[in-house]
Amino acid sequence: MANAAADPSTTGRGLFITLEGGDGSGKSTQARLLEGWLVEQGRTVVRTREPGGTEVGVEIREIVLHHRGDIAPRAEALLYAADRAHHIATKVRPALERGDIVIQDRYLDSSVAYQGAGRVLGGPEVRDLSLWAAEGLLPDLTILLDLDETVARTRLDAAQKRFDRLEAEAGEFHGRVRRAFLDLAAAEPERFLVVDAGDAVDVIAATVRDRVGSLLA
Ligand code: TMP
Repeated sequence: MANAAADPSTTGRGLFITLEGGDGSGKSTQARLLEGWLVEQGRTVVRTREPGGTEVGVEIREIVLHHRGDIAPRAEALLYAADRAHHIATKVRPALERGDIVIQDRYLDSSVAYQGAGRVLGGPEVRDLSLWAAEGLLPDLTILLDLDETVARTRLDAAQKRFDRLEAEAGEFHGRVRRAFLDLAAAEPERFLVVDAGDAVDVIAATVRDRVGSLLA
C-alpha cells in the first residue's frame, strides 16, 4: 500500500470510483447496481454523493440547489468546493484508507463541467480549486454517462419532479456541460470510461462491471 497519510493524492488500499454526467443521465441507478454487485462479492462499499455526502454537505446542498435568489458563480464554486473538502476529509479518505470501495455520485469533474463550462468560470481554475479542497485526490475510475441534453431533459420532464437551480438552466447551458465532460474524458482516457447513457440499464451495468472487475483483478 502506498503511504496514504504521507501522500493525500493517493487512494491508499481502497478503490475510488466516481460517476459523472448530466442531470437525468442515470448515474444513481448505475451506482446502486454497481454497489449491489460488489457487495454480492463480499466487498465493503461506501456509496456516497456530492453535494450532500455528509451532515455539513446536506446543508450546503440545500443552499446550492434550492436557494431562491441568485448565487454569484464564484460563490457557487466555493460552496461545492467546501462540500468536497469536508466530504473527502471526513468520509471518503478514511474509507479508502480502510481499503473500502467508494462509489461516488459526482466529484470534481462536475465542478469543471458545471461551474467551469456552464457558469463560464474557466475549467483549469475550477479544477485547481477542487484539487486544493480535496488535497489532490483523483478517482481511480470515472464513469461518464453521456446523454444528449435534449433526451436528458425529456427524461427529467417525464419524472415530473421540481427542477433544482442547475436543472432549471437552459438547454444551451446543459450542452456546454455535456461537451465539457466529453473533453475531460478525452484528456484522461485511462481514468474515464464513457458509456452511452441512452443504452438499456442492464447493458450499461454490464459494461461498468467489466471495467471495475478488471480493476479489481
Ligand atoms: P444531483 O445530485 O441530483 O446529481 O444534483 C446535483 C446538482 O449539482 C447537479 O445539477 C450538478 C450540480 N453540481 C455542480 O454544479 N457542481 C458540482 O461540483 C457538483 C458535485 C454538482
